[in-house]
Amino acid sequence: MGSIHIEAKVGDIAETILLPGDPLRAKYVAENLLEDAVCYNHVRNMFGYTGYYNGKRVSIQGSGMGMGSTAIYVNELIETYKVKNVIRVGTCGAIQERLNVGQVILAMSASGDSGANMAYFNGFQYAATADFDLLYQAYETAKRLKINTIQGSIFSTDTFYDDNPNRWDKWERHGILGVEMETQILFTIAKRLGAKALSVLTVSDNIKTGASASSKEREQSYMDMMKIALELA
Ligand code: HPA
Repeated sequence: MGSIHIEAKVGDIAETILLPGDPLRAKYVAENLLEDAVCYNHVRNMFGYTGYYNGKRVSIQGSGMGMGSTAIYVNELIETYKVKNVIRVGTCGAIQERLNVGQVILAMSASGDSGANMAYFNGFQYAATADFDLLYQAYETAKRLKINTIQGSIFSTDTFYDDNPNRWDKWERHGILGVEMETQILFTIAKRLGAKALSVLTVSDNIKTGASASSKEREQSYMDMMKIALELA
């Protein structure tokens, strides 16, 4: 018996899982970086794989875009499949001018506008933070692999499209590095359910300068991000 949105049997999913938004990225990493990868989920084409990286068992599966979709998978992975370490691997739009496309960010905390988060805390604001052990391990791993990372805060939003051009000014002033759509709810739910969470992001575009990654730059930085995350298994 699986969970509502995942058809895997209990035991099919490793204790450490990577969560890209795009299920085809999960497939790509499973086929190119993992050994003996087996696909355990086809429901909604939200593919999930378990395989081995340097001999260590690890899973990777799509989360979909946004906090609504991410929350469903994170809940089921932890509650039904007893996943212990949930690591988002994704992209963000930078809101600090100094950040170049391809920069890898280790998210220490995620501010956000998630309605789910506000409703859960009765309108109060929960400070969603990464698990320190995973963050520290990722930082040390990146140093060892000679991959440059920046550690800091990000913002998770429910709305990709917005018509206010000054939307991010305040957040920029308060040190937020970039904007994406999944991390805040990941950190919150993982903490609530007793799992560890981390978010490793690469800058795909810079909202301030309008810079955007070429497909080659994208590929290189995605691989850097994946290697850091896979080493955490
Ligand atoms: N907004 C939200 N999420 C994103 C963006 C953005 O500009 N870029 C990459 N993920």
